[in-house]
Amino acid sequence: MVSNTLTLLASELYINGEWKKSKSEQTIEITSPYLYKGIGKVQAITQQEVDEAISFAQVAQKEWAQASLQQRASHLYKWADALLANKDEIATVIMLEVGKSLNDAKSEVSRTVDFIRYVVEEALHMHGESMRGDSFPGGSKSKVAIVERVPLGVVLAISPFNYPVNLAAAKLAPALMAGNAVIFKPATQGALSGTKMIEALHLAEFPKGLVNLVTGRGSEIGDYLVEHKGIDMISFTGGTDTGLHLAKKSAMIPLVLELGGKDPGIVRQDADLQEAAKQIISGAFSYSGQRCTAIKRVLVHDSVADELVDLLKREIDQLVVGSPVNGSTVVPLIDEQAADFVQGLIDDAIDKGAVVVTGNKRDRNLLHPTLLDHVKEDMRLAWEEPFGPALPIIRVSSDEQTIALANASEFGLQASIFTKDINKAFAIANQIEAGAVQINGRTERGPDHFPFIGVKKSGMGVQGIRKSIESMTREKVTVLNLSV
Ligand code: NAP
Ligand code: G3H
Repeated sequence: MVSNTLTLLASELYINGEWKKSKSEQTIEITSPYLYKGIGKVQAITQQEVDEAISFAQVAQKEWAQASLQQRASHLYKWADALLANKDEIATVIMLEVGKSLNDAKSEVSRTVDFIRYVVEEALHMHGESMRGDSFPGGSKSKVAIVERVPLGVVLAISPFNYPVNLAAAKLAPALMAGNAVIFKPATQGALSGTKMIEALHLAEFPKGLVNLVTGRGSEIGDYLVEHKGIDMISFTGGTDTGLHLAKKSAMIPLVLELGGKDPGIVRQDADLQEAAKQIISGAFSYSGQRCTAIKRVLVHDSVADELVDLLKREIDQLVVGSPVNGSTVVPLIDEQAADFVQGLIDDAIDKGAVVVTGNKRDRNLLHPTLLDHVKEDMRLAWEEPFGPALPIIRVSSDEQTIALANASEFGLQASIFTKDINKAFAIANQIEAGAVQINGRTERGPDHFPFIGVKKSGMGVQGIRKSIESMTREKVTVLNLSV
């Protein structure tokens, strides 16, 4: 079955509603992270083709901005239907390309379908407001302001490898529903899946040029896209270094960045340890920890640390490790380089005295889930984001120390607090510098209509269905001067 599918994985540019090869005549080979062989090719776009795509988007957007919400909705619903109808095929490509288990890949597609439909429903119920003037200088009650949200123009959507369909559609759907056109640049390893998503979108017969798929290495075309005068807003999800680079390059246009994290799982002495262990392991190791919201460090009170470590080990022993084809939770990392990086963090911690509770086994880019106890502040693993299956345990002696350590990180995506004392939970949550704090649950982005926020080096701006629509529109005021 897999080898039959392999022959199908060719991606083309999608510009002005047409599929085409790049004039560069250059392609990039995509290697599967677990089959270790080429599974397809994506086009390396030229700058001239980027210019053309943006020009087509600008033209299409003008008309699309005039379309009614119901008209826009009908296309988005068709897109969602097409994704659902092709769920199995799309999920197979996700599995092949980024090594996510088939079930997780199917969930990614279903979640995307729900997401698109919810975007439509939310947008249909977002209304402007009116305000009456008052006694400010030049103002009077005869003035009425009508405040509406209008689209920004052409949105550049740049997505990461780990949710190649969901984190792409999470940008495209709100952008389109809000009346924008889109230039979509998927992660190169993820572009085959992104292409499948655009094939479904093509079936929904959006106006030509409204959505354009541009592929090529970020290192080669990224700056050109980001600095392009035809781009009116950038929605980016990816690594912090790339995000920082983008923030320096883009000028005077709205920018939403969702970046990396080092989410702490905080375990107080009064926590339900069994439940905490379950949540922490699921949070830390699903998809091998290749989630921005994975729990990436455990801060546990000394008095319960030994018991928690035992429970965590027991949970890890139950994880299925291996090929995504077998439904494994811990799968090979996206590439060998990613595995080298995680191994480097593990080795550094061990060299400096951390104790391996389990794991530290490696077969090429497949790293077994690794739990390291007695991790200290001088170890890189205490601070750096592995984006892989390595979880450090840091023992603490007070809530004050926990909060200080949690906040000493350069990241601020989310945090989890495990405790039976709800007052303490709130007191700690109030002091944690993060976009969201979960009480007695794992860190995660969803439900997708909740605001999703990264602070410090974890991002800028807010996503989540309503917030994404808001970020892709601006307010416009029309003032009615009455003669009464
Ligand atoms: P990445 O290497 O930063 O790549 C993200 C995207 O940026 C890709 O499409 C990449 O294209 C593109 N890119 C690279 N250089 C660029 C440039 N100069 N200009 C414009 N675009 C450029 O991240 P990743 O490896 O795909 O994802 C892993 C990281 O993303 C982790 O740090 C993770 O925490 C973070 N992440 C955060 C969230 C969140 O919501 N907070 C979600 C998912 C992932 P190429 O693939 O062609 O290089
Ligand atoms: O990788 C970053 C994603 O935004 C995480 O989403 O918490 O649903 O896995 P998730």
